[in-house]
This record gives sequence, C-alpha cells and structure tokens, in this order.
Amino acid sequence: MNLDFKQIIPSIPYILQGISVTLEIVLLAGLLGFILGIILSLLKISSINILNWLADAYTSIFRGTPLVLQLMLIYYGSPQITGYQIQPYTAAVLSFALNSGAYVSEIIRAGILAVDKGQREAAMALGVPYRKMMWDIILPQALKNILPALMNEFISLTKESAIVTTIGVMDIMRRSYQVGAKYYSFFEPLLVAGLIYYLMVMILTLLGKALERRMRQGD
Ligand code: ARG
Repeated sequence: MNLDFKQIIPSIPYILQGISVTLEIVLLAGLLGFILGIILSLLKISSINILNWLADAYTSIFRGTPLVLQLMLIYYGSPQITGYQIQPYTAAVLSFALNSGAYVSEIIRAGILAVDKGQREAAMALGVPYRKMMWDIILPQALKNILPALMNEFISLTKESAIVTTIGVMDIMRRSYQVGAKYYSFFEPLLVAGLIYYLMVMILTLLGKALERRMRQGD
C-alpha cells in the first residue's frame, strides 16, 4: 500500500475548518429535533385520536424515506415550496431537524411510558395540572432513562451529516473530497476525514457518559 500524507499536509487546516460547519449543523438540528420530538411524543400519548394519528403519520413518513432524499427534496424543492432558493446550510439544518424529530419522538414516547404509572396517578390524585405534571414530574424522569438513546441519536446525526456534501455544504466530507480532487488522490484525505469523524464521535460518547453519570448521582 502506498500512502502519501505529505502532499496533503498543507490542505489539512482546510479540512479541519469543516469541523465547525459539521458541528453547527448537528448541534442546531439536534436541538430543534429534540424540541420537535418532545412535541410529537406528547401528541402520541395524548387521548385525542387525531393528534396520535398526525404524529404517527409524521414519524412514518420521515422514518420511512431516506434522509438524503428529504435533504434533496427540501433543498431543490424550496423554490417551488417557498418561492425562493434556500441556502444549502439551511436545508441541511431543516431536514436533519425534521428527520431527527421523528426518531426522537419515539425515544421520548418510550421513555414517558416507562415512567412508573404510580407517578402519574399520584400527581393526578394531588391535583397537579397536566402540563405541570408532564414538565416537572414525568419528563425529567423519562429524560434520565433515555439519555443513552438520545446520545445514540446525536451520534447518528453526526455521522449522517456527511450527506450534506451532496448539496454543496462545505463540511468535513466535502472539503476532504475537494482536497482529493486537487491532488488526484482521494484515499489520504478521506482517511483524514474518517479520523476526524471518529474522534468527534468518541468525544460525544465520553460527554454522554459523563452527563449520564452526573444525572445518576441524584438517585
Ligand atoms: N441513513 C438512514 C436514512 O437515510 C438514517 C437516518 C438516521 N436519522 C436519524 N435521525 N437517526 O434514513
């Protein structure tokens, strides 16, 4: 095997600049997806049938089609949907948030259902209003249990984010590909990209573990 990293060394800072692009998209989409996921999960457990149905239909569509398709539909479809062309970055954040919301809603729904029924009954017996019961009693307990699953989702988003390169976002993936094109040698810059993604996921894993440990301290 002949590997020549020497020639791409001057281009490594260029690839590294993609880290902030990738991170920004993942953080923003992760946060928006989380909020959307909470809303959808509450719709799913509500006693109003039409709301259950709407939230289920949403999840079914966004989980049932490839993320890369959703990304492209939003990016290339934006002129027909909104009347103007949105930026690749915006399309990336939007599609990842909408997609992640579908996955997160299932995680949170499972978390809520796993909280002991007695908690809900006690709150209701004490006359705690529904909203207060959810926010102050049920959701905090559910969140603690689903933290590992949420962390998994975040890791998935980080890796999946590489597909934003298909609509021209200058992320880690696209930059390493460009460097490959410049030197007519793709192997080395792609290996660099792989290493960066791997390190990012490792750091996320450690952060997740630390957060989990912290939350368990209260037990
Ligand atoms: N590659 C899969 C897809 O295209 C994974 C999507 C993962 N999304 C997520 N939010 N975890 O559908």
